[in-house]
Amino acid sequence: MIPDKAPEDDVFHGAEEMRRGAHVPTFDKYKEMYTQSIEDPDKFWGDVAKDFFWKSKHTGRFLDYNFDVTKGEIFIKCMEGASTNICYNVLDRNVHDRKLGDKVAFYWEGNEPGDELTVTYRELLNCVCRFANVLRSQGVTKGDRVAIYMPMVVELVVAMLACARIGAVHSIVFAGFSAESLCDRIVDSQCSLLVTADGFYRGDKLINLKLIADEALQKCTDKGFSLGRCIVLKHLSKEAQETSLSSPPAKRPCPDLQETETGRVRKTRPVPQVPWNPEVDKCWHTLMGDVSDECEPEWCASEDPLFILYTSGSTGKPKGVLHTVSGYMLYTAATFKLVFDHRPDDVYWCTADIGWITGHSYITYGPLANGATSVLFEGLPTYPDVSRMWEIVDKYHVSKFYTAPTAIRLLMKYGSEPVHKYKRDSLKVLGTVGEPINPEAWQWYFTVVGDGRCPIVDTFWQTETGGHVMTPLPAATPMKPGSATFPFFGVVPAILNESGEELEGTSEGYLVFKQPWPGVMRTVYGNHGRFESTYFKKFPGYYVTGDGCRRDKDGYYWITGRIDDMLNVSVREKIGAIATPDFIQDAPALPKTRSGKIMRRVLRKIASGERDLGDISTLADSSVVEQLFHNRCCTAV
Ligand code: PRX
Repeated sequence: MIPDKAPEDDVFHGAEEMRRGAHVPTFDKYKEMYTQSIEDPDKFWGDVAKDFFWKSKHTGRFLDYNFDVTKGEIFIKCMEGASTNICYNVLDRNVHDRKLGDKVAFYWEGNEPGDELTVTYRELLNCVCRFANVLRSQGVTKGDRVAIYMPMVVELVVAMLACARIGAVHSIVFAGFSAESLCDRIVDSQCSLLVTADGFYRGDKLINLKLIADEALQKCTDKGFSLGRCIVLKHLSKEAQETSLSSPPAKRPCPDLQETETGRVRKTRPVPQVPWNPEVDKCWHTLMGDVSDECEPEWCASEDPLFILYTSGSTGKPKGVLHTVSGYMLYTAATFKLVFDHRPDDVYWCTADIGWITGHSYITYGPLANGATSVLFEGLPTYPDVSRMWEIVDKYHVSKFYTAPTAIRLLMKYGSEPVHKYKRDSLKVLGTVGEPINPEAWQWYFTVVGDGRCPIVDTFWQTETGGHVMTPLPAATPMKPGSATFPFFGVVPAILNESGEELEGTSEGYLVFKQPWPGVMRTVYGNHGRFESTYFKKFPGYYVTGDGCRRDKDGYYWITGRIDDMLNVSVREKIGAIATPDFIQDAPALPKTRSGKIMRRVLRKIASGERDLGDISTLADSSVVEQLFHNRCCTAV
């Protein structure tokens, strides 16, 4: 069927009542604020900074930078001279200055329906202080790197904020990654301690996380790097594990999150046998029982490192993307507030895993900086059935919901009936992130999930950008299905052609940014040269996203995907014989990571017929690889 109009002519608006009390109520207001943010970024970000606590004020320029490799080293600095602590700002400031101590920070919803826990800001602060003291007692000091390999539990947030409190740098490794990936990341950032858990359930499947962590530590030792300490959270069942440990570490019950007033409700399930090495392994609960709940934060310089997060590694060796304290804090706080139009009585739910940047910025730092109440979900959209998401939306009266196109497409396959089983009348804004959303999935999300009421914020950003860079604002921006619309405040996009010339008006080419915003990454950990060559070398003077982009006649931006995923269909005369494909293979599906990224290194190996694929633990569906190898045998000669 040929559509009667191009997708760029479809314009949607959210319900009119969205505008009432909105932070940015109209498109004209967006344009006015955008111009101010570009003409006077110091004023714009200075106003954002006023909401936060600074131990000392900044001295130099608010935002200083060099984006041009031909003029010297690339650098970005925000609020130099100032000192602060991000953990203090997202917890103590909320509890003490904003009187939000009794407000719920997280509704934790376990994999199993009925497993739940409610944590207030005061309780979270208390646990974070204690775990920060635990880290200090284990010898962790400012600047040390701490690897965190945990399921989606509140203690994961506790561990990351405890690092931030003492100025240690967290390096979170997604709990779906293999021992090899974990080892590579630990070695690359030379971590001094690992925080992990016994195990967790993904749907019906038991993941024995500690076993994988042990294998990773053995691999580290084989590579000549030994990590002294491993703190293990007993997530699945305290009692059952203590009897299974060869050297039971727990001397007495400790007052941890499981013993708060609301309690954690659990169903009985088999628990893993956890190997225990008393030389290295320490029990989270035992350590927490031995420390005070008061912990003076470490006052950090603005540009001190906050965390390292490795990019998903669809090409080559993963890069340790480094973010620093002040700029990241301002940017995640401002984007969260404006892009989700945050209101104090919202219940917000981001379904991402904290192991990805989306979870760092929009489960932990952005929402907590705003004193928001969030749902933290451990499970899967399809377990125990495909209504789970909507059941949770009704259970907690979720008003702002943020997920990925992959999840939407997956649920779309089951039709509208599982969605309509639940009311979803609390929903006000829907968000999407991770890859371009096809207009069909957008329409389904808008009409079926949001009942045609809720604006969709299609947020384009990257691990590297720290927060949203191209996105609609829910009350202000007229939406076009599949378009990330316009830049966020302080962000200046451009579209370049192959020769590096800026294209005006309707055009298509490389998406780049002309100046920094506070949350942009500062370096690749331990390899500044790789940072410069990856993002700044191709077009000096610009940050190169690596994504292709189209601008339509109304100025809307449409992300077309990673440039290196595209085949240039002019193929031999224009580009040359080198660009001629050796063969064209039928591919019913592509090897994608769980976050929807095409694993190009796997494609390269399939193309060369090489069976040793290396680490493919991030693959969403490994049967795709077999299928592609099979098709190769059929077609390639
Ligand atoms: O290709 C773009 C795609 O995801 C890439 C960044 O991936 P990652 O660093 O894993 O971060 C994902 C979460 C922020 C981008 O280079 N991408 C992300 N969001 C969108 C998108 N593509 C189109 N539209 C989006 N909304």
